[in-house]
Amino acid sequence: MGYYKVPRSVLFLCLFISFCLPYQFLAYEVEADQPVQLLIDASEGSGRRIPDTLFGIFFEEINHAGTGGLWAELVSNRGFEAGGAIIPSNIDPWSIIGDESSLIVSTDRSSCFERNKVALRMEVLCDSEGAHICPSGGVGLYNPGFWGMGHGFRKDLVDMLTRIKPRFLRFPGMYHVTWPLQIGLDWWLAEDLDALPIWEALDGLEFARGNYLKFYDAIRRTYPDIKMITNCDGSSRPLDHPADMYDFHAFVSEYAVTGKDAGTGSLLAALAEAGFLIGLEKNSDIVQMASYAPLFVNTNDRRWNPDAIVFNSSQHYGTPSYWVQHFFAESSGATLLNAALKTNSSSLVASAITWKNSEGQSYIRIKIVNFGSTSVNLKISVSGLDPNSVELSGSTKTILTSANVMDENSFKEPEKIAPIQTLLESADKEMAVQVLPHSFTSFDLLKKSVSLRIKEDDSSSISSI
Ligand SMILES: *[C@@H]1O[C@H](CO)[C@@H](O)[C@H](O)[C@H]1NC(C)=O
Ligand SMILES: *[C@@H]1O[C@H](CO)[C@@H](O)[C@H](O)[C@H]1NC(C)=O
Repeated sequence: MGYYKVPRSVLFLCLFISFCLPYQFLAYEVEADQPVQLLIDASEGSGRRIPDTLFGIFFEEINHAGTGGLWAELVSNRGFEAGGAIIPSNIDPWSIIGDESSLIVSTDRSSCFERNKVALRMEVLCDSEGAHICPSGGVGLYNPGFWGMGHGFRKDLVDMLTRIKPRFLRFPGMYHVTWPLQIGLDWWLAEDLDALPIWEALDGLEFARGNYLKFYDAIRRTYPDIKMITNCDGSSRPLDHPADMYDFHAFVSEYAVTGKDAGTGSLLAALAEAGFLIGLEKNSDIVQMASYAPLFVNTNDRRWNPDAIVFNSSQHYGTPSYWVQHFFAESSGATLLNAALKTNSSSLVASAITWKNSEGQSYIRIKIVNFGSTSVNLKISVSGLDPNSVELSGSTKTILTSANVMDENSFKEPEKIAPIQTLLESADKEMAVQVLPHSFTSFDLLKKSVSLRIKEDDSSSISSI
């Protein structure tokens, strides 16, 4: 982040001015007894497809997100102080490689590090020649690692990322870590998450302005399969530089509510972001990609607030902003339905999509943000569906809220503000629901599958599943 030309605060401001104005939340309060209507058209072929890569993640080396975070704590008990700073020290889970008669391992307090006095001493008694030859596998110490060694990521943190199903992983790749290393790690991470890796060369290109061709050639040579996309418009006149594609659609590369209202991750900030993301869904003919930033903060090196995922060496939690992204995990590649909210209140924003799960079950997901401080009686009407086409059993309601809008999660209460899913007993084409104050709610209606005509022997039967 240190190399941005535009200070991040300005960037955030621009994004919010351009995208949030249509959805400003004024302090208009809805009368609790005056129902608000949400009309949704779910008829076949009426919606618009949302880009497959609308919501992704932006990984950068800030707040010790990578080094000291996602991929640093691989070595368990790396300071040999699991049992405290006393000696002889507890060196578990380190174990000796080779023959114990070839190696003596002990601990003393000779370390040059003030905060980590315990040092490990290894005396190798064998040699490559002479009377005491070392075992063929060599001698040394082995550490099985904290989280399994695979690609070497902390499993708990990668799981947090997997759960929001990011469709792309953006990484600038030019910051504190040396290049090839960072690119390798980012690539693995994208592979582990099944996300499309997007290496944002443009930051780098501007950073290396004047060297564009050298830069282009170097990437082409090293990573011939990477598509290089320029954000210059090549439609009216030819580009004056080589590139595989041009695209001037909007990429909201970093969004987040920051400042006093956001604290270190408040519900208030998360609700505003939910409204903003609903706006992006609705404008996804123009906005093609969006990613929250920063993704991680290691509490031992907090350089930027707020962040999506907070961790230290042993614990982690998602901020409300992280949980908001769960509600959009199915949006990329889904179909946006026409949804009209009949209200004079500007505290409410809603959208509706249809999406299919991996088993091919089809859902209508209705999301609504209530930014106001009173609850709202909402009448939802879904048109364009056959009668009895909503399954009661699989339909759910998911709510993100808390008693106070400034509430935050913490290591002590990691899921104080987290989505709570319950069965939606009133699931139907016409529903009367109550939307809690200061909340983000999604209603997932499971659609009955279309009728199938199945031929069995000589008789045909119609099975309506
Ligand atoms: C992580 O933070 C919590 C809360 O401050 C603390 O209790 C715990 O000891 C920390 N863990 C490590 C390994 O620093
Ligand atoms: C919105 O306000 C106008 C004017 O006050 C009123 O006539 C109308 O009924 C209101 N609409 C709704 C949906 O509340």
